[in-house]
Amino acid sequence: MIYNECMKGDTEMAITTTNFGSEKAKLLTLENNNGMQVAVSNFGARIVKIIVPLKGKATNIAFGYESDESYLANDPYVGAIVGPVAGRISQGETKIQGVTHQFTTNEKGSTLHGGPDSLETFYWDYQVKEEKNSVKFYVTVPDGFNGFPGPIYLQVKYQLTEDNELKIQYRGTTEKATLLNPTNHVYFNLNGDFKQPIDNHQMELLADQFLELQEDNLPTGKILDVAGTSFDFRKGAAFKQGFDNDFPQNKLANGYDHPWLLNKATTPQVKVSNEDGSLQVELTTEEDSVVIYTYNWGADPIDSITTHGAFTLETQGLPDASNHEGFGEIELAADETFESHTTFKFIF
Ligand code: BGC
Repeated sequence: MIYNECMKGDTEMAITTTNFGSEKAKLLTLENNNGMQVAVSNFGARIVKIIVPLKGKATNIAFGYESDESYLANDPYVGAIVGPVAGRISQGETKIQGVTHQFTTNEKGSTLHGGPDSLETFYWDYQVKEEKNSVKFYVTVPDGFNGFPGPIYLQVKYQLTEDNELKIQYRGTTEKATLLNPTNHVYFNLNGDFKQPIDNHQMELLADQFLELQEDNLPTGKILDVAGTSFDFRKGAAFKQGFDNDFPQNKLANGYDHPWLLNKATTPQVKVSNEDGSLQVELTTEEDSVVIYTYNWGADPIDSITTHGAFTLETQGLPDASNHEGFGEIELAADETFESHTTFKFIF
């Protein structure tokens, strides 16, 4: 692929558009003056690549595939915006403004990431703003899609700054009261080698509590303290403290696939670095929780990633919130606007 050179002065960079598989799929590449590139696609409004200069060498640290067809054949959630509701809705059922709604189920009787063929498979509209180095994606989720009242109008904006931040902004409205709790599902490996486990990546996570999960990955409803467990990253620890241990919560997930309740007072709330410290990603979010999934169950169909070959930082309201008292609000009324910001800052 040929990337355009800086076109209009020092800070304004061209955004290149190339084909990305089928006729409908496009890849838009943002770049900054520090050697970073972020490639996003209208297919699932997804992050396809994040290229950073790692020890002087341009390295992709976001797991992805080469075309829309390849995502469909392998794993359409990779890097995508998932929703309208990220995570699982127990039995695909919940109340909205007191009325029970049934959603289409797609995993063990529950609704995962908005149900079958949801936002991650949509071709979103988009608008490029070169002066802001940003791309804004737009989608309309039709009323009744997978059971969600709507239409829901969702916008997701990605912006790459000269401070090496990738800023994600979500904005949503609806015509009928519905649920909205989207996230981004990008997987990082800060060595850029998805065949090498993240065991020795170091994470610092400002969270005192996490949600207990049951066998089907749904929350039991219990909120547990991290203290004294392999979920305590408050002072920094390697991911491997949750791999190959006997703690039942790690055993059932074969690692981490859990929501942590984020402390809001201090930002960034999460810092992860590779073992030699040549790259760090910092996460700042307005959301209540981060779901960290450590790619727990073996290679993808084309063997391009290994077990524990990457980690996600999925910022969102708590999973299955609408079915648990005290898990927070993910309902969106017809006269409300959902707005949320998440920033990944890369330090190299
Ligand atoms: C979930 C995992 C699931 C994965 C699918 C994550 O958000 O927590 O359980 O397997 O998405 O890509």
